Amino acid sequence: MRSKIGGIGYYVPKNVYTNFDLMKMMDTTDEWIQERTGIIERRYAHTTEETTATMGVEAAKIAIKRAGITPHDIDFIVFATLSPDYYFPGCGVLVQRAMKMKEVGALDVRNQCSGFVYALSVADQFIRSGMYKNILVIGAEKHSFGLDFTTRGRNVSVIFGDGAGAVVLQPTDDPDRGILSTHLHSDGESAEILAMYNPGTHANYWVDTELATFKKDAKMGEYFMSHEMIDNCQNFPFMDGPAVFKKAVVKFPEVIMEALKTNNYSPSDIAMLIPHQANLRISQFVQQKLGLRDDQVYNNIQKYGNTTAASIPIALCEVYESGKIKEGDLVCLAAFGSGFTWASALLKW
Ligand SMILES: CC(C)(COP(=O)(O)OP(=O)(O)OC[C@H]1O[C@@H](n2cnc3c(N)ncnc32)[C@H](O)[C@@H]1OP(=O)(O)O)[C@@H](O)C(=O)NCCC(=O)NCCS
Repeated sequence: MRSKIGGIGYYVPKNVYTNFDLMKMMDTTDEWIQERTGIIERRYAHTTEETTATMGVEAAKIAIKRAGITPHDIDFIVFATLSPDYYFPGCGVLVQRAMKMKEVGALDVRNQCSGFVYALSVADQFIRSGMYKNILVIGAEKHSFGLDFTTRGRNVSVIFGDGAGAVVLQPTDDPDRGILSTHLHSDGESAEILAMYNPGTHANYWVDTELATFKKDAKMGEYFMSHEMIDNCQNFPFMDGPAVFKKAVVKFPEVIMEALKTNNYSPSDIAMLIPHQANLRISQFVQQKLGLRDDQVYNNIQKYGNTTAASIPIALCEVYESGKIKEGDLVCLAAFGSGFTWASALLKW
């Protein structure tokens, strides 16, 4: 028994923010952003009418419809995000409520840019074991709420965008379809290189950097989040971009090759590689390293920026909708991000 993607959907907010719009908020240029990342524009969610969970719901509605089922048929939810509606509970239960589903299990995955592939892998195991038959897997982000839109945060804020993608995973016994294998990895050595430290319970246990500084004489009740943290802009993500870049260009090809070798395929067999949309330069590097043609790799970071857990399902859905993949085609999904964590999935569409 394997699992197959029975339905897929995506949702991106209407609000388009071009590089020129960002230039009005911070010291940056369209040229810098395009040259270093490939991004031309991104979408930001409506401030009050859209959340990470509601965007996930919109993507899920399409995926569920395309799977030929109703929300009532879903028997498990896996929701990947780094920008949840609440610190707790997770977004999965909000989807369960919003879509009036049965009292099914709802699991949130906290694996940032690798979140969707991790979530897919979790769902795949439940299908293979025979435990569930219709699993809703969502990747969604509302980054626009958590970025520093001043010049201080420009190396991070220009990269990220909002959106959501979803799939319904179902069992199949067709030998020419479905998820062949998934491969998950982590190396916590560089956990702080791409991280949002606050709010959190770390109290500088792991590192004592300017961005994470915890006041040792803080009062009970002010440990988790204090006025001082906000005044010092310690509530925004931190990224050492060049360090992330260096590791990503090694781990992406490695985990793709791992998936191919496990299933006795080579890069030339790939009909479509969908890399997590971290940076166009990273994707181009990976393409070159694996000797892939342009038509074997899909990129849409130009339009949406890096939508973290949502980037792969959005891209996969666009590929599907544009007819770029047909039944039986070999599709590889690969991701790398904060943690570091990285992952791949090889599937026959
Ligand atoms: C973030 C990234 C685009 C930066 O590009 P880079 O070529 O490495 O640039 P650097 O960080 O070395 O910065 C170069 C200069 O540009 C400046 N800069 C940073 N952001 C800028 C922006 N938005 N606009 C203009 N200048 C900017 C820096 O301040 C620095 O200036 P300096 O040389 O005067 O100090 C790149 O490192 C990257 O994409 N890394 C991977 C990040 C990623 O994929 N993250 C997602 C996780 S999956």
